[in-house]
Amino acid sequence: MKVLVIGSGGREHALVWALAQDPEVEQVVAAPGNPGIAVLRPAHDGQTIVCRPVDVADHQAVVVLATEFGADLVVVGPETPLVAGLADPLRDAGIAVFGPSAAAAQIEGSKAFAKDVMAAASVPTGRAYVCTTPEEAAEAIDAFGPPYVVKDDGLAAGKGVVVTSDRDEALAHAAGCEQVLIEEYLDGPEVSLFAITDGTTVLPMQPAQDFKRLADNDEGPNTGGMGAYTPLPWAPENLVEEITDKVLQPTVDELRHRGTPFSGLLYAGLALTSRGVRVIEFNCRFGDPETQALLPLLKTPLGGLLLAAANGKLADHEPLTWKNAAAVTVVVAAKKYPANPRKGDVITGVEQAEVDGVHVFHAGTALDDDELVTSGGRVLAVSATGKDLDEARQRAYAAVGQIRIKGSQHRTDIALKAARGEITV
Ligand code: AMP
Ligand code: GLY
Repeated sequence: MKVLVIGSGGREHALVWALAQDPEVEQVVAAPGNPGIAVLRPAHDGQTIVCRPVDVADHQAVVVLATEFGADLVVVGPETPLVAGLADPLRDAGIAVFGPSAAAAQIEGSKAFAKDVMAAASVPTGRAYVCTTPEEAAEAIDAFGPPYVVKDDGLAAGKGVVVTSDRDEALAHAAGCEQVLIEEYLDGPEVSLFAITDGTTVLPMQPAQDFKRLADNDEGPNTGGMGAYTPLPWAPENLVEEITDKVLQPTVDELRHRGTPFSGLLYAGLALTSRGVRVIEFNCRFGDPETQALLPLLKTPLGGLLLAAANGKLADHEPLTWKNAAAVTVVVAAKKYPANPRKGDVITGVEQAEVDGVHVFHAGTALDDDELVTSGGRVLAVSATGKDLDEARQRAYAAVGQIRIKGSQHRTDIALKAARGEITV
């Protein structure tokens, strides 16, 4: 099988690595890829993994690349090209695509659209008002009271949400957005549950937890995600079943009934509140950095799975299987992330960090005359597996300790509460 992976982040690095583990996958092209993908070693004889430059916003160029390569499958990683509709011209060209159409990707592209789908499908979520003027926003903010949850309606790379008890800060964020959602505050631990779907059948992965805030103890601003772990030892036994029945399947059914089937990865971000499971957000693609924790534990061959989803054949696919182990991912971010990440800092220690059971996935790196340097906010995602969360944490942090980037930041408490048994539902 020949697979083209679109994107250049840590999630795409993990996807390419996991695809390469599938014995059926002979060639992987990553476009544009990143310096980490470029040096990935083949997982079996005769396999090739290469990066190709492409302007992902130029959909016709991607179609030409996929056609010339003879791709059996195209996997579109990030939300921006999906929401912009990259999957559509690829499908029109007769190419199997893992990733939703522009119409279905609106589940992430517009929070108001997602709320509408959830209301129609009776999917539990926080109550919310969609506001288009500062006056409407102020009224909604006062109707809910603190803590205030203010969400930019459109794509914002994980930075469009402000949760604050400061009314002026809430009003200021609302004023900066064209259309804004003011939402009821949801307490309780958060869970990310990903489903592979072909628009009809839903195959849930195992749950993971993401750390959105920049600093330890969930302090500081929201980010794209500073770390993740899986599985969740504290999760109720029937959690995946419950979320599949109440959230994932009804959402997939609703989108199909609307004539805009969702095929690809449906990401549910959830809060386990005292009143039950509530959807915080949907995304239309693999989450970052949860994917970097999940894929090293997935036993099911990824190429065959994503191809079955792309071809509408998931009903015949076996349920996913997982290694009986734990994984922890720690993001190493650039100085001044998320406000104004510094670029061009030299990165050393990656090779020393990559011992057995550790993967250093590149997210914001570039080559400057053969020297690896920072080129984005989240620079590396360091993933380690272990027999339990304690061991995975130790390995992940030992690896992070090998890496040197001037001014870099990382959290020291990824998976700590879970490993200590301090999370309760
Ligand atoms: P989102 O981009 O919608 O996932 O929001 C980013 C983060 O903001 C989430 O992971 C939560 O930590 C927090 N958040 C979003 N919505 C709510 C809410 N209604 N109540 C409490 N926290 C929220
Ligand atoms: N982990 C958060 C996201 O992928 O949006």
